[in-house]
Amino acid sequence: MCGIVGYVGPRKATPVLLDGLRRLEYRGYDSAGVALVDEGAIAVTKCVGRVGNLIEAVDDTAGGNLGIAHTRWATHGGVTQPNAHPHCDMTGRIAVVHNGIIDNDEGLKARLAADGVTFASETDTEVLPHLIARHYAGDPHEAVLKALQEVRGTYGLVVVFADHPDLIIAARNGSPLVVGLGEGENFIASDSHALVRYTRRVIYLEDREVACITATEVNSVQLDGSDAIHTVEELEAIYGSEDKGEFPHYMLKEIHEQPESIGRCLRGRILPDLGSARLGGFDMSPRDLTEIPRVTILGCGTSYHAAMVGAMAIEGLARVPAQAEIASEFRYRNPVIDPKALFMAVSQSGETADTLGGIKEVVTKGGRVMGVVNVVGSTIARTCGAGVYIHSGPEVAVASTKAFTSQVTALYTFTLMLARTRTLGPHDAVELARALVSVPDVVSEYLAEPGPIEEAVRHLVGARYALFMGRGLSFPVALEGALKLKEIAYIPCEAYPGGEMKHGPIAMMEPGTPVIAIVPDDQHREKMISNMQEVRARGAALTVIHSRGDLKAQSLASVSIPVPRIHTLLTPLISVLPLQLLSYQAALALGKDIDRPRNLAKSVTVE
Ligand code: AGP
Repeated sequence: MCGIVGYVGPRKATPVLLDGLRRLEYRGYDSAGVALVDEGAIAVTKCVGRVGNLIEAVDDTAGGNLGIAHTRWATHGGVTQPNAHPHCDMTGRIAVVHNGIIDNDEGLKARLAADGVTFASETDTEVLPHLIARHYAGDPHEAVLKALQEVRGTYGLVVVFADHPDLIIAARNGSPLVVGLGEGENFIASDSHALVRYTRRVIYLEDREVACITATEVNSVQLDGSDAIHTVEELEAIYGSEDKGEFPHYMLKEIHEQPESIGRCLRGRILPDLGSARLGGFDMSPRDLTEIPRVTILGCGTSYHAAMVGAMAIEGLARVPAQAEIASEFRYRNPVIDPKALFMAVSQSGETADTLGGIKEVVTKGGRVMGVVNVVGSTIARTCGAGVYIHSGPEVAVASTKAFTSQVTALYTFTLMLARTRTLGPHDAVELARALVSVPDVVSEYLAEPGPIEEAVRHLVGARYALFMGRGLSFPVALEGALKLKEIAYIPCEAYPGGEMKHGPIAMMEPGTPVIAIVPDDQHREKMISNMQEVRARGAALTVIHSRGDLKAQSLASVSIPVPRIHTLLTPLISVLPLQLLSYQAALALGKDIDRPRNLAKSVTVE
């Protein structure tokens, strides 16, 4: 979603800001803008569309060693040039960029308008520069503090003043901001991706913190004026390259990175000879594990699908009641929180507002939450304080692929650790541990020979409707396959458990309807074979993802996609791969913008 970059130091600000915006493009946005402070004035340039448009519009030879920039994802007001950030006060001497939502903007607007303020945009953000201007009497810090006392809502806010060409003010409440510390220069951004090229030393601002940033100093206080204590942290080495390399799209690159990303998630964690696992970040002894009465796993979108796989694995294998919950629903249904239960929050970005809201609900009611997060130092990772990093490396494509398989891998690792303290004998545990260690090789084996994906795509392209079908652990995989196809190819589709077919969706079958069935060789296989026969009898064009050598499943398929065999618990890690490729190839055939699908953002930082 919206992205922020700011710079103060000896370099020309423009190239740093534009480079930062480029690095934040993956988050999703619809317009972009930049404000430069130079020679006692602020120059604002903004435009609709890609950062490329902004780069063309901005004079990159312009001076100015301090500036702020923004990519906007529209919430309040349409995608127009006036609605793009930065926004200024009426004198044009104060400029702000803002991520988040101001809840009391209507009241503030009415008051400001009564005082003679005219608004240039339809955004909630625009109240901020006008409000700051009303409180400004030469001290920028005081003006921002006073203005924020009147504001309700979420913000990652960055402000510059024409009178202070050496100062950036940043404030955070519910929307992340990270200060990058350089030598004689400093940076601010909503996401450390924008900073890694320049520095690895960072300070994460906390909620209700307001920081004054110059080229050489960072000083901050709480909104109520009390001291803010922060620590300098080192960004972990980024795993994997952030470039596309030989691949035409990030999504394809990230699909092919899965042997390495899953390998990194497992590294040092599986104890094959003991048939157990070690997850240092969980900080739980075997005795603690035996006392967990139930597990609830929160997530959104793909992360929710990973949570579903994790919950099924935990309940099925460790015999601990477990459920997955959509975080946006969970947070508002006044859930009962058992303080002894274990809650887990799954998030690639670590910034998803709904997941964070769910975590806060658990913590407020005395529960504990472990994060299963990719981005190191992200808000969810820091809010949970304990958990496991999945170590996927940067995932740039909006459609999540390698993060899903690593999330599932991390949840399996936890399942092994938990089950070993309860239900799992040494023989079965060693077998599962060894199977987990083999996953990267099995993934490579499949990706080297992915089967007739393009043939399956031919049934999908032009279809009015498609159905994904799976049972047990393959149902969340079916949901994930359908989500991918919707996200990047915009093909109407849904996913159902095979057993639900007769309860409604079979009415949608007509000659040629594409059905994608996920049928690994597990305890659901026979039932799935019956479900496949039912849809086939009604003319469906069946693409079947099945275990290699399953001739019966193959015989029912219009398109048969065999995948290597693996321990039945681990089949989602393999059967999701053809679904990722299927959506990728379908989007390619339809000429869609694969890495930046319409209306979507990589990190959904507002509700
Ligand atoms: C995945 O392809 C989606 N873009 C989306 O569903 C995503 O998984 C969801 O928004 C949750 O994001 P998170 O993992 O960063 O919390």
